[in-house]
Amino acid sequence: LPAPSYWKNERGSELFIWSANSGAIQGTFTNHAQGFACQGIPYPASGAVSPTGLYFVVTFAQCNSFTRWVGKTNGSQMPTSWTLFYVDKNGKPGKLKGADLFTRVW
Ligand code: BTN
Repeated sequence: LPAPSYWKNERGSELFIWSANSGAIQGTFTNHAQGFACQGIPYPASGAVSPTGLYFVVTFAQCNSFTRWVGKTNGSQMPTSWTLFYVDKNGKPGKLKGADLFTRVW
């Protein structure tokens, strides 16, 4: 049974993975990144991990947005690239892409 792990990215956001059973990731993600909304709220994170990589998705319910991270663990580092899917005030959908480097805290 894989132990829980706790990760922080370079923007200060936190990812707590409490279970990664048989490839399924379950945890919480708390956004602390400057320039983004929905800060300081732990949202459910779910995804999958395989020998070649991992992904997880977080829905920011109050922000009408969700983000998908794709990456891989490399020791205590987890480089990822992400896509943020959002709907603006006029109801127009959009996407934003970036990269996050997560470092394992425990
Ligand atoms: C939103 O502003 O619509 C919700 C919060 C999005 C936060 C993004 S997710 C990708 C990037 N990495 C972070 O740690 N925070 C931002």
